[in-house]
Amino acid sequence: MTEINSTYDYHKSGKPDLINEYTICESFASEKSPCSLAFDVKKPYGALLGDFLIRLGVLNPDSIIAEAGGGYGSLMIGMLQEHDHLIDRIIMFDLSFYLLKIQRNSLRKWQAKTDFIQADIHELFASISGINLLILNEVIGDMNVACNNDPGNMKKEVNDLVRKYNLEIPEYEFFNFNIGAVRLVEEISRHNYSVFLSEHSSDPVFPEGMEYLDRGLEQGFPREIKLHKHSEFTIRFSHLVKVAQSFGREVITGPLIDVPGFRNIDSMRFIFLNRICGTDKQEIIFELLDHIREYRWMLIK
Ligand SMILES: C[S@@+](CC[C@H](N)C(=O)[O-])C[C@H]1O[C@@H](n2cnc3c(N)ncnc32)[C@H](O)[C@@H]1O
Repeated sequence: MTEINSTYDYHKSGKPDLINEYTICESFASEKSPCSLAFDVKKPYGALLGDFLIRLGVLNPDSIIAEAGGGYGSLMIGMLQEHDHLIDRIIMFDLSFYLLKIQRNSLRKWQAKTDFIQADIHELFASISGINLLILNEVIGDMNVACNNDPGNMKKEVNDLVRKYNLEIPEYEFFNFNIGAVRLVEEISRHNYSVFLSEHSSDPVFPEGMEYLDRGLEQGFPREIKLHKHSEFTIRFSHLVKVAQSFGREVITGPLIDVPGFRNIDSMRFIFLNRICGTDKQEIIFELLDHIREYRWMLIK
């Protein structure tokens, strides 16, 4: 029987803890964090993401940016510290009152050009206009998931989306479907702003020279990740790509390792394949590689 996994109540009324959730943004929130030091990453995640978006041609002078699900505000702090001169206005949307309060405090230096809006991501898109870029960093894994779908007898809404966008599904095995993320990409693809999103994927891809990271990983359909007081699901990126492309949008996607852009690939390979955790630094490298290897980014232009 299909059930819907929702994190709505947890985020609306709870106190989400992003350190325990081990988000990539928080792991590299400062150039002095243990992860940044272990990987020799010289800038915070938000600054690196800004560099990446400039290279992709979507962060330009006079930008108006919306970030939905900005957590503690760390991504936007890093981006503004480095790229303030390119950004005219920022709109931070979040379902969580608790996290919006933290964002307001951490971004107070830029309060003159920042608005904070409490809203459910699914309901806000009709009211957003005039932005150039939307950022959804590790947010879509929190959207609704239709669990345990029988391929031979799918819930009507899942069946309609699968047929409409010609989405691949297993032939016989029951599967989980990212219904909220697919609906969200459907909605945002109708607009003309660019969208950067990143998330834990069920169909990861690997950087050139780091294909060894696929060791022991099962590629497939979304799986549950149990977290404190709620569950998220990995995202089937190939579905999101098809949906955005069906609206005529250009889509680029890759491994999230592209954003921090690690070097020292050879020593990482050695640590990862031999599971060497003899020092704190090696342990951090092993754990982070084991985590980030399943993450992907996607840009809808
Ligand atoms: C896993 S956290 C990621 C936070 C931050 N972007 C990062 O990368 O560290 C998910 C964020 O999305 C927000 N969120 C979850 N569901 C949402 C919804 N339906 N509408 C708006 N924001 C939502 C949460 O409150 C939180 O800020």
